[in-house]
Amino acid sequence: MTKIALHIDHIVKVYPHRHHPVTALKEVSFDIHDNEFFTLLGPSGCGKTTLLRIIAGFEEITAGQVRLYGDDISTLAPHQRPVNTVFQQYALFPHLTVADNVAFGLKRLGQSADEVKARTAAMLDLIQMTEYGQRKPHELSGGQQQRVALARALAPAPKVLLLDEPLSALDLKLRQAMREELKAIQKQTGITFVFVTHDQEEALAMSDRIAVMSNGEVQQIGSPQDIYNNPRNHFVANFIGEANILDVTAEPMRGGKCRVKLANGTAIPLEIDHAIDAAKPLSIMIRPEHLSIKPVGKKPPKSALIGTVQDLSYLGTDTQLHVRVDDRISLLARVQNDTSVEGALKPGQSVQIDMNLNAIRMLDH
Ligand SMILES: Nc1ncnc2c1ncn2[C@@H]1O[C@H](COP(=O)(O)OP(=O)(O)OP(=O)(O)O)[C@@H](O)[C@H]1O
Ligand SMILES: [Mg+2]
Repeated sequence: MTKIALHIDHIVKVYPHRHHPVTALKEVSFDIHDNEFFTLLGPSGCGKTTLLRIIAGFEEITAGQVRLYGDDISTLAPHQRPVNTVFQQYALFPHLTVADNVAFGLKRLGQSADEVKARTAAMLDLIQMTEYGQRKPHELSGGQQQRVALARALAPAPKVLLLDEPLSALDLKLRQAMREELKAIQKQTGITFVFVTHDQEEALAMSDRIAVMSNGEVQQIGSPQDIYNNPRNHFVANFIGEANILDVTAEPMRGGKCRVKLANGTAIPLEIDHAIDAAKPLSIMIRPEHLSIKPVGKKPPKSALIGTVQDLSYLGTDTQLHVRVDDRISLLARVQNDTSVEGALKPGQSVQIDMNLNAIRMLDH
């Protein structure tokens, strides 16, 4: 059975501004599993840092509870919680060597000199910086400083490590390299990581599971594949990757099937896994890579969706194109550049658009 590391239980946070109290979290509830790389993902201001600070104990809860391996830690002071945080500004002690930075928390825990030495050496080995122990922070690159900050936070072996956008100060190449490294270190140490980012690519690449947040609420929780392939609503579909979202009317049929109609009358048969309320406004979502685009043949099938290529952008491995069907329907498509289509599509051209029906998802609003 999955062991629960953190239980976030109906957490509400209202910042008591005198004139305009800000509700940063609206009854947020979910579990983070033991040994999990868990990510809080969402746009600026959605409440990610607030939740992290609540877990760490830096912020009071308005209502609700935080439990760590079953124990209510909501009222413990930060230093009483077996939790450590890595911040975006990693704030190493500038006058201390790398080794002394890593050893800092261990000495405060009252460990013996031998214990501190052994643990510090193990941490430097973990981040592959054994030879850098005697350097000062200003003698390191940004990525190396960030690794030292990570080693410093991991050294006292916290049960949970909280990371608030730790990679955002690094340039793109370094950020990508650090992704792999962070993930490997999480697996190696077995410590539960709660990672905060607003970068969806970072979240997809690193996480075991992701909680997508907006406006103080969790919109969806799932594996990267789950979130990308089966977004539950408009917000998640748009925030993760790119999505074509089309308004439809639906006609339920027997046996988990339904027929949806696009705004231009085109009918699409769909398998659905949950009951739909045909009286409500509905929409479907399809990812750009699940559209196939080809020049219109001599006799396109009557049911085919026909459009005009508006523009093409060459992106190396694939080409992205906008195809306009009519006033109401415009689609974003991606075609791989190793297909015969390369070079055959031009702006202004009439094309036939085929949807991979298995990849179409019905969305809640
Ligand atoms: N001390 C505070 N007093 C009042 N409002 C606050 C305070 N701290 C945060 N807020 C508000 O709470 C909301 C959530 O803020 P939070 O810092 O948790 O967002 P975030 O998701 O971490 O955003 P970002 O991606 O920009 O870091 C925002 O509307 C913010 O303005
Ligand atoms: Mg933040």
